[in-house]
Amino acid sequence: MAYPPIIEPGRRLALLCLLVSCVALAGATRPSRRDLDINIGGGGGGGGISIGIGGGGGSPPSSPSSSEPRPCDFENERLYRAYLVIQKFKRTVTCDPQRITSTWTGTDLCSKTSYQGFFCEHPPGITDRTIASVDFNGYRLQSSSIRGFVDGLPDLALFHANSNDFGGAVPGLGSLQYFYELDLSNNKLAPAPFPTDVLQIANATFVDIRFNSFYGELPAGLFCSFKRVEAIFVNNNQFSGCLPSNIGDSPVNYLSLANNRFTGEIPKSIARNANTLLEVLFLNNELSGCLPYELGLLAKATVIDAGTNRLTGPIPASFACLGKVEQLNLANNLLYGEVPDALCRLAYPWTGRLKNLTLSGNYFTSLGSCCWDFIKDGRLNVDRNCIPGLPNQRSHEECAKFAHQPKSCPVNTYLPCKKYQQSSGEQAKAATTVEEEFKYRTYSALHP
Ligand SMILES: *[C@@H]1O[C@H](CO)[C@@H](O)[C@H](O)[C@H]1NC(C)=O
Ligand SMILES: *[C@@H]1O[C@H](CO)[C@@H](O)[C@H](O)[C@H]1NC(C)=O
Repeated sequence: MAYPPIIEPGRRLALLCLLVSCVALAGATRPSRRDLDINIGGGGGGGGISIGIGGGGGSPPSSPSSSEPRPCDFENERLYRAYLVIQKFKRTVTCDPQRITSTWTGTDLCSKTSYQGFFCEHPPGITDRTIASVDFNGYRLQSSSIRGFVDGLPDLALFHANSNDFGGAVPGLGSLQYFYELDLSNNKLAPAPFPTDVLQIANATFVDIRFNSFYGELPAGLFCSFKRVEAIFVNNNQFSGCLPSNIGDSPVNYLSLANNRFTGEIPKSIARNANTLLEVLFLNNELSGCLPYELGLLAKATVIDAGTNRLTGPIPASFACLGKVEQLNLANNLLYGEVPDALCRLAYPWTGRLKNLTLSGNYFTSLGSCCWDFIKDGRLNVDRNCIPGLPNQRSHEECAKFAHQPKSCPVNTYLPCKKYQQSSGEQAKAATTVEEEFKYRTYSALHP
């Protein structure tokens, strides 16, 4: 089954839009139309689908005036129903600095010049075109609610609304049979616990609610409801509590939990993600406990970032098995012991792909012999540790105080892979530019 590629998190907005609220910006450009493929389920398109069943709030206006278009003015009845839902939503838009909604007029919903943000497609096995995708990324539309709108478009497959001012609650989308991509990032959704209705989107591939005000614990369902999920971005909210212990049950490729207030340990079940997880961000939470051996089993991961937490212990020997890792950040934790030689060796192109090992702000006391090679070229940062003979280290007092605290983490020397595996294929480039950071999907998601 062919899914469309994950769409990069929203376009950056011109600061102007923030400053000139509700003032029309002349010549706003239309984003290029994305290729759509809503053929979820491929050949299974036989079943007839009744219009509007389960569609929810798309009720027609109570008193249509004579100037209102009639159903027969539209290409098909699905589009007429969508028209009613869109017009109803349009009346709730209270701010529209790019004058997007002024294009939402007439009966041709699929036109390239009107209905900016809406895209038509044929649902699988159905001849009528209908609204398959809504892409409002960066439009800065303001509305107190999107309930009755998104869930009122029964054939919708994608809803992208990065950087709008949508308030209220997340609509229930479980009844939308084609739906698979939800991006509500950087909105003003009402502070609320995780929107559990989202868990009903059984075929979700992309779940992005970052940069909102959600709080409380993540539900365990987030990691077992979506059998096809590729990306889960919940960073930059107010989530707290322990991470669900079933985190490893999800087939997710890109997982960002960064910039919340999660506590407790990194669940050991993360090892079960080893076949799918490509990038994971635990960055900037309050996670504690010993740095788990299981993280070293993420053999496909290119980014592992557990920086700025309260993780402690030595680095388990298993980390030397991270043969694909390019960015490994464990900075600003309470880690100690020796930085394993075998881990640093991953920065040799014939051994691994490591481009950036950031261990600053910990309590390491020594370096494996190969590690010294990578400090000079900037690939290993061990500033603010307790390593004799290196500049920019913590004071003797600070190091001694930490050294005297009781330590309870195991020293795990078991190596679950062959020693110094040959890296398969291309060599890691010597240096990483700042721009390159944006090639990582999870790091891109740290920008609104
Ligand atoms: C998910 O996709 C499958 C197959 O593509 C389809 O049969 C099923 O109805 C979809 N589920 C939902 C809840 O939409
Ligand atoms: C290396 O990673 C750290 C932590 O994520 C980051 O702050 C730094 O900018 C990275 N350096 C390079 C050269 O990519």
